[in-house]
Amino acid sequence: MDNGAPHLATHSHYDRLGGHEAVVNLVDAFYLAMDTLPGAATIRAMHEPDLRATKAVLVKYLSEWMGGPKLYSPERGAPMLRRRHQPFRLDSAARDAWMMCMRQALSEVCQDAGLRTELDAAFFKVADFIRNTEDGGQERAHPGRPRETHPGQVALPHQSKA
Ligand code: HEM
Repeated sequence: MDNGAPHLATHSHYDRLGGHEAVVNLVDAFYLAMDTLPGAATIRAMHEPDLRATKAVLVKYLSEWMGGPKLYSPERGAPMLRRRHQPFRLDSAARDAWMMCMRQALSEVCQDAGLRTELDAAFFKVADFIRNTEDGGQERAHPGRPRETHPGQVALPHQSKA
């Protein structure tokens, strides 16, 4: 019922971005950037030549992470992204190359500047959290409190999944 009060419903990042189609477009643009930007060559080489399966998993993950349909965890379990990225050498250069690709993708797919800023910050937290290699090359210890949450949520210590 509309009682004239201001509209207080909060929309998920998923809805604000444009739903499933927008997430698919974001993931396509992200991996196209990774395939073509020279600064992304090192992280591209960590992936299989054929990106189709990887893309499908990232679509499912991002759908859930942005507050849309839970497509990832029923199939793959808890994300545990830090553990799943352990085989790869992720230093600050890898993190920044990943962010460069995601920023390029967001600039193409997300017209809402405010949403872009929010997602950029949320992606950076995850990318930095899963960084496992110091710039000198030594292993980086687990930074403690996990930050891999829906961008609009605050992680509680007992919700640790990483
Ligand atoms: C820091 C730089 C990063 C690099 C170099 C990187 C690289 C990779 C690679 C090589 C894979 C394996 C792909 C495959 O097996 O098909 C992977 C998987 C994945 N990455 Fe990243 N990644 C990074 C950051 C991130 C971030 C910030 C997120 C989320 C916001 C993310 C989400 C995922 C997901 C969901 C998977 C699939 C996990 C699964 O197997 O269920 N990655 N990543």
